[in-house]
Amino acid sequence: MKALTSNIIFIGFMGAGKSTLAKALAKELKSVCLDTDKIIENMEGKKIKKIFDERGEEYFRKLEKRVALWLEKSVQNTIISTGGGFIHVENLNKIGKVIYLKSSFEGIVKRLKTHPQAKKKIAKRPLLQDTKKAEELFKKRESLYERKANFTIDVEKFKNEKEIAKELVKLILA
Ligand code: S3P
Repeated sequence: MKALTSNIIFIGFMGAGKSTLAKALAKELKSVCLDTDKIIENMEGKKIKKIFDERGEEYFRKLEKRVALWLEKSVQNTIISTGGGFIHVENLNKIGKVIYLKSSFEGIVKRLKTHPQAKKKIAKRPLLQDTKKAEELFKKRESLYERKANFTIDVEKFKNEKEIAKELVKLILA
């Protein structure tokens, strides 16, 4: 099995499956993964929702930038899942190969609503509380995800995460 020679960063909208896929890919590659939201939660000792409630979005975005700088400087050959807004960090493409998990907004809503823990999945995401606003955000970000990506994977074309992970292994280790 060939090993990673750079970081792999998953970008995409909330609910596209970035964290699930990072874990599945790490398993396929016998590698390790990190999640930027989890790092931020550990830094603050609070859940994302609480950080938004208590300190606001702007503060959260500053934490994302700090994490991005740390990743660039200190992390190698690791699979990284990010929050949907992480694409705004300036050094994204310096961290590693960027893979966009592309899905339609309808696909995202369906994926979240049919999840066994749907309520929890939605409740923990402050920017998903209002579907109309979330769709506007999606439309605003779509082209940015495309522009920042080195590779794009249309997640709706696959049966499940394992299938996507296999496709990614081919792509990454090619
Ligand atoms: C956000 C996405 C969330 C989390 C935060 C903000 C965004 O992560 O970082 O609630 O701006 O899209 P997920 O993409 O994992 O839901």
